[in-house]
Amino acid sequence: MRGVTTRHFFDIIDDYGRPDEYIFEFLRVHETAAIPDSLVDAIESRKIDTAASVQLLGREPKHFVKIAKLFQKYKIKAINLNFGCPMPKINKKGVGGALLKELEIIDEIISRLCESVDLPISVKTRTGYEHSSELDRILDVLSRHRISALYLHGRTVRGLYSEPVNFECITTAKRVLRCPVIANGDIRSASEATWIIESTGADGVMIGRMAVANPWIFRQINELYEQKRIFAPSGVDYMNYVERLKSFNSSYSESHSVSAMKKYVVPLADFVDASGDFSSKIRRVTTLTCFGDTCEKFFANL
Ligand SMILES: Cc1cc2nc3c(=O)[nH]c(=O)nc-3n(C[C@H](O)[C@H](O)[C@H](O)COP(=O)(O)O)c2cc1C
Repeated sequence: MRGVTTRHFFDIIDDYGRPDEYIFEFLRVHETAAIPDSLVDAIESRKIDTAASVQLLGREPKHFVKIAKLFQKYKIKAINLNFGCPMPKINKKGVGGALLKELEIIDEIISRLCESVDLPISVKTRTGYEHSSELDRILDVLSRHRISALYLHGRTVRGLYSEPVNFECITTAKRVLRCPVIANGDIRSASEATWIIESTGADGVMIGRMAVANPWIFRQINELYEQKRIFAPSGVDYMNYVERLKSFNSSYSESHSVSAMKKYVVPLADFVDASGDFSSKIRRVTTLTCFGDTCEKFFANL
């Protein structure tokens, strides 16, 4: 997730309950695109052997090929193609989810990558641009290629984050494609994750926002599968999470650090306190001291 799933955040998730794989936030592909040092660092500094894919977002097949070849020397799981991003400023440039209106370009991007790059190619997309009835045509294009996995967010591009998630599309994708299909969209707990896998036939789930609010969710899913007691974080565990977030943001100026911390602690506050009181306090905080005090006060009573 752009601006959130940094290498430091993945380090925290590694320690709190590892998923089977990670996908780095998208890298914008254009004529002169290069792999940023921060991404090389993130790939090379992975302490734990959990596979990570890099994600590309762009339009021109030859630009994808050029940058994908540069990734061949790194230890990554796959090149993941972003054909789902709904942000208007991205879509205006005809990339991300906007490409669902030009399936012939998606077809060519995947085809050129599969024939010239020695890495697995996976796809992240949505159910359509306007309507999920477009899914059949999308799957028809994907089924022509040897993609290694499909990560399907059960909403249309137009549906942004508000449309109800349609998990039937996962069952449809499973019927058409030979590769693993991973379900994504609004999965909020271990029991929801296992229910979705069982009811749709998905090969796994992809969790975005809830991993920020509850970084133990992957551990909890594994515990549910193994019929173990599900870990319930205490106030001390939550404070430890806040402290770790603080430490990796400590090189920023105070105001930058506070706003970076809010990207994680606001979703956490919304998750742990349904009344909204803790979250509204966190949104108003302007100093790191106040940040720490507000969190300590709330978590001491949890
Ligand atoms: C702040 C933010 C940044 C995101 N950045 C990316 C991204 O770089 N690549 C991507 O494929 N999806 C991105 N997404 C979408 C998520 O991966 C995911 O598909 C979506 O949030 C639905 O899943 P969730 O309900 O589990 O969060 C982003 C979402 C958010 C909220």
